[in-house]
Amino acid sequence: MHRTRCAVQEVGGPPLPRARPVANRNPAGGGPAGEVAMSDRVIAQKAPFKVDVVAGETYWWCVCGRSAKQPFCDGSHKGTGFAPMKHVAQTSGPAFFCGCKHTQRPPLCDGTHQSL
Ligand code: FES
Repeated sequence: MHRTRCAVQEVGGPPLPRARPVANRNPAGGGPAGEVAMSDRVIAQKAPFKVDVVAGETYWWCVCGRSAKQPFCDGSHKGTGFAPMKHVAQTSGPAFFCGCKHTQRPPLCDGTHQSL
């Protein structure tokens, strides 16, 4: 079962695959403009979530962007092909979890949201 407290990035984790922007998508692929396919990550917000984490605690970062408990997983990824990312905080204190789901340094913000 997932814990829903916040977390800090495990150092050296693999980067996420490059996500396609979901805002202003060309609807030629089907569906009305603005529709988000289940295979796309959703931008929860174009800013990081600041969370005070506890060293040694495990956190499950929402990768799909559909969780109502951002930035953490609530199980809403089911059927999307995404899975939450485990993160064990190395130190206690504030952590800035990516809210746009496009960071290249998951689960933490790397500033990518500024170009979306
Ligand atoms: S919120 Fe995603 S990179 Fe900053």
